Amino acid sequence: MNGRPTEEDRGRPTLTMTMGLPASGKTTWARRVVAESRGRCKRVCKDDLRDMLDAGVWSGENEEYILTVRDSLVRSFLADGLDVIVDDTNLHPKHERRLRQIAKAQSASFRVMDFRHVPVEECIRRDSQRDRTVGPEVIRSMRDRFLVGAGRGVSPR
Ligand SMILES: Nc1ncnc2c1ncn2[C@@H]1O[C@H](COP(=O)(O)OP(=O)(O)O)[C@@H](O)[C@H]1O
Ligand SMILES: [Mg+2]
Repeated sequence: MNGRPTEEDRGRPTLTMTMGLPASGKTTWARRVVAESRGRCKRVCKDDLRDMLDAGVWSGENEEYILTVRDSLVRSFLADGLDVIVDDTNLHPKHERRLRQIAKAQSASFRVMDFRHVPVEECIRRDSQRDRTVGPEVIRSMRDRFLVGAGRGVSPR
């Protein structure tokens, strides 16, 4: 986690955004935190919303609704004082910008849980062993787009 809770964070809900390649372990971590939270923390995931709303089909048009639904779930849980984890890849900087705005508007803390240190070959290995694989090409192309050339594997902000 980037930064420990400060005095100022006490009593405020926290929005945590994971960041990392497919199969780097984001959902596994998020589900564990949620399971241990006794209802205090909710997980919101675009893949699962896409499954529910669009039979898993991505399209530019569908994606606008997916983002609208993601944002309204996050906003609503934070407004009720609950913590939220958004456990998508979130490598494109637009997600951090948007989610930070929502946290700020709800007077919530914002944190990034960074999985970008997990090596790409390890992600590819884990991905190949799970049910819903994205495939090595997708993982390598996301690595090339967001992690390479941005200095020590850190994506541009
Ligand atoms: N720390 C870990 N060590 C080894 N395997 C892991 C670890 N975290 C997750 N996995 C496995 O890797 C696969 C992808 O994990 P997942 O959490 O779904 O990744 P993501 O949400 O980042 O795509 C799963 O099969 C999971 O069991
Ligand atoms: Mg996941």
